[in-house]
Amino acid sequence: MTLLAHLIKAPALTGAVAPSSQFLAKAMADAAQGAAHIIELGAGTGAVTRVLARQYPDTRLTVVELQSALAGKLARTYPGTLVHAGPAAELLDQLNDEGLRVVIVSSLPFRSMPTVARVETRNSILQFLRRNPGSWLVQFTYQPRAPFAGEQGFTWKRKRTVVANIPPAGVWTLRATA
Ligand SMILES: C[S@@+](CC[C@H](N)C(=O)[O-])C[C@H]1O[C@@H](n2cnc3c(N)ncnc32)[C@H](O)[C@@H]1O
Repeated sequence: MTLLAHLIKAPALTGAVAPSSQFLAKAMADAAQGAAHIIELGAGTGAVTRVLARQYPDTRLTVVELQSALAGKLARTYPGTLVHAGPAAELLDQLNDEGLRVVIVSSLPFRSMPTVARVETRNSILQFLRRNPGSWLVQFTYQPRAPFAGEQGFTWKRKRTVVANIPPAGVWTLRATA
């Protein structure tokens, strides 16, 4: 099943007409440089997973995908990788990686997700970054502004604009700064 088919089935969850381009995937992976553990949220068809696995073969990778058909395919493609078939917040809330530099690489569609899921996921990410200073979030967005509203003590940075993607996307990082 293509991402377009998943978009038709679950538009708010999928939030994209096409898989991330190789250029967007590379920009996301580059922004994870230095991670001891990479957690990919909303891995979908695995366009970003593929680049992360190739670019960081010795780094622990955990993949999270809500739609079970997509998660199943990722688990079959990456048998040595932990694939969590469920909501991103569930995994982040139970993770205890204190002291490790964890980089969360997210393709989650924050602008189209149902409100409850958006609020819950955002809160889980902020709490995780607060618990793990030195970790950061890499998130892309199709909007000209930050992917979602941060809060005091967090800083968004626009890292790259990738025009070779449908649609063009900005790659941002979010860190706890206080
Ligand atoms: C923009 S699409 C995937 C992009 C991916 N880089 C690709 O190229 O296929 C976003 C993905 O996030 C997943 N998703 C949405 N809400 C989620 C949640 N709360 N937890 C985990 N995954 C979620 C969707 O099922 C979808 O596969």
